[in-house]
Amino acid sequence: MKNILVTGGLGFIGSHTVVSLHEAGYNPIILDNLSNTRIDVLGGLEKLMGKKPVFFQGDVNDAAVYDQIVSQTGPIHAVIHFAAFKAVGESVEQPLKYYHNNVQGLITLMLAMERLSVKNMVFSSSCTVYGEPDQVPVSEETPTKPAASPYGVTKQMGETILKDCTWLQTQCLRYFNPIGAHPSGLIGELPLGVPSNLIPYLTQSVAGLRPPLTVHGGDYPTPDGTCIRDYIHVCDLADAHVASLNRLLGNKQQDHFEVFNIGTGTGQSVLEVLHGFEAATGEKPSYQVGPRRPGDVVAVWADAGKASSVLGWQARRSLSEMLRDAWNWQRKHS
Ligand code: UD1
Repeated sequence: MKNILVTGGLGFIGSHTVVSLHEAGYNPIILDNLSNTRIDVLGGLEKLMGKKPVFFQGDVNDAAVYDQIVSQTGPIHAVIHFAAFKAVGESVEQPLKYYHNNVQGLITLMLAMERLSVKNMVFSSSCTVYGEPDQVPVSEETPTKPAASPYGVTKQMGETILKDCTWLQTQCLRYFNPIGAHPSGLIGELPLGVPSNLIPYLTQSVAGLRPPLTVHGGDYPTPDGTCIRDYIHVCDLADAHVASLNRLLGNKQQDHFEVFNIGTGTGQSVLEVLHGFEAATGEKPSYQVGPRRPGDVVAVWADAGKASSVLGWQARRSLSEMLRDAWNWQRKHS
């Protein structure tokens, strides 16, 4: 069984990917400092995997942790690097926190990989690198735009650093908007404090834990005036990592740095999501339309053709499944 180090493996996308890796016959090794998740995620993973996951509590910026891991697990065949902060607003207020964790952490990890001769990496990037695109859908050839926040800069810098390091084989996955939860309700998203992302706020609000949702802007140049995003089920996203890893470890890469958009290829407006939520769950969300949120792009969705033709991966789950699973998780969790 191949050892795959999963940094941030107890986070939202990381934990779902750990399950997909296990199901695909890989041996995931989790490194997480618990800064944005909870230790109970291990219990959910144990139920889903039928065994205790291999877990190291530690920080990506701690160079010694990698030697400690390898001394206990044996060689690492690849790293999937999720461990990063992702709150756009916070990154504006505390940029150094983001540069230290997301950029310095990546460099510390890469230095350890070089030292330990680990040559394969799957990197979590984001559609945020496209900024406000001139045309949609965006393909991997669409030029990136200056980032609107330090968070976005850290993703662009991460891509640049990985591209410059030609000794490393990198699969760079640009995620669109991951939502939903494992259909079992055993793992899901655990936002700390008031969620700023749409779906965790929506489910907490419908559960009565938050005031009604504010739709950020109803006067955008879109059919219903609200922003459009490409929402993707987190389990589909997790499966994309397995497809990517299969290509990496099967030595099928054509270039040391390959980029893939990971989305469904369709966009939904905020109002479509709210109506879809009611149709999927029978629960009617309360909301009001408020002013635009600074930094939001109007519309972005993926051309996911490259992932389909090259990785043989495409999203399978519908918006209705995403919303049903997000609500199921919220109910079980609260
Ligand atoms: C944001 C980041 C993205 C990051 C992702 C995950 C930006 C520009 N992008 O995506 O880089 O990878 O979070 O952290 O910040 N909305 C409401 N009301 C709410 C919350 C959201 O109307 O209470 C709307 C937003 O205006 C947006 C849509 O819902 O149109 C999705 O928002 P959100 O879930 O925060 O994701 P993004 O902003 O697309």
